[in-house]
Amino acid sequence: MKHLVFGGNGLLGYSLRLALIDEEVVTIGRDKGDYAYFDLNEPMQIYRIMEDINPDVVHICAYAAGVDWSEDNPVESFYTNVTGISHILFAARRVDAKVTFPSSSYVFAGGMADPYTESDVTSPINVYGRHKEILEENVRSLFPGKHIIYRTVGLFGYEPKGKKNFVYQILRTIENDEPMIVPADQFMNPIFVNNVAKAVVLLGQRRFSGTINLAGDINLSKYEWARMIADRYGKENLILPVPSETLGQSAPRPSNACLSTLKYQRFSQKYLKFDLDRFLGML
Ligand SMILES: NC(=O)c1ccc[n+]([C@@H]2O[C@H](COP(=O)([O-])OP(=O)(O)OC[C@H]3O[C@@H](n4cnc5c(N)ncnc54)[C@H](OP(=O)(O)O)[C@@H]3O)[C@@H](O)[C@H]2O)c1
Repeated sequence: MKHLVFGGNGLLGYSLRLALIDEEVVTIGRDKGDYAYFDLNEPMQIYRIMEDINPDVVHICAYAAGVDWSEDNPVESFYTNVTGISHILFAARRVDAKVTFPSSSYVFAGGMADPYTESDVTSPINVYGRHKEILEENVRSLFPGKHIIYRTVGLFGYEPKGKKNFVYQILRTIENDEPMIVPADQFMNPIFVNNVAKAVVLLGQRRFSGTINLAGDINLSKYEWARMIADRYGKENLILPVPSETLGQSAPRPSNACLSTLKYQRFSQKYLKFDLDRFLGML
């Protein structure tokens, strides 16, 4: 099986290419060193790369991912993410590949008391969630029986560049002994990205097709998560809880972004773990 990973230098794409170690993998990204330079805004290049590589499975990890950026730039986000990724989908269909696509718990409104299941009705409250919802629909309609849409939330882990995920943000803050305000009213079940990547590989090997949640085994607020990280270094007093509305974020966040992972457990007979300490132990 030949795998093509779009966005191989991002948090998820990098981890996925490591998880595919036993397979033939080609990754492409905006950096030199990959097979080829590619940009979501340049469709002709996408079709050319797809025909050159002719993969069996296409993993779409490239995304102009900022939630607030999408809210502030809805037209650019639509063009880059929705149109750009739809070109990847059309190109993948032409070579008859399977597709995996990461989506988000932000496709839900966040008003439910329990973690969201795969069959709950989507109702995004921000542009990022709306664009994910459209792309999910495009994947389903173009790849019936040949896709994995995995919804996830709060990914953290090694990033080859940028080091921008939440764990790194907290580590930078406490290293400088600076206080950090964190919302106490945004709940999620974050997960070490390597666990998601391994789960995607396993789902592919077992020929899963459909939509599935991949998230951690602890539901907590962002404040609790930040405190947990800082606590490992004896600096939890630097983390200060605030309500979301005081943060001035452009995009509203769902209050409950927790995902139920029962479907994954039943399908795989495996359990997905948060694994914060495993990642911190690797630093
Ligand atoms: N992180 C999370 O908590 C989370 C949660 C749910 C879903 N997801 C989804 O998972 C996917 C990957 O997210 P991530 O956290 O790995 O993000 P990331 O680290 O920012 O990686 C995104 C990748 O997309 C590439 N990219 C951005 N704009 C591009 C463009 N115009 N053309 C080509 N490539 C472009 C980036 O390239 P450069 O490295 O060159 O910038 C980067 O490699 C996204 O679809 C995201 O929505 C993430």
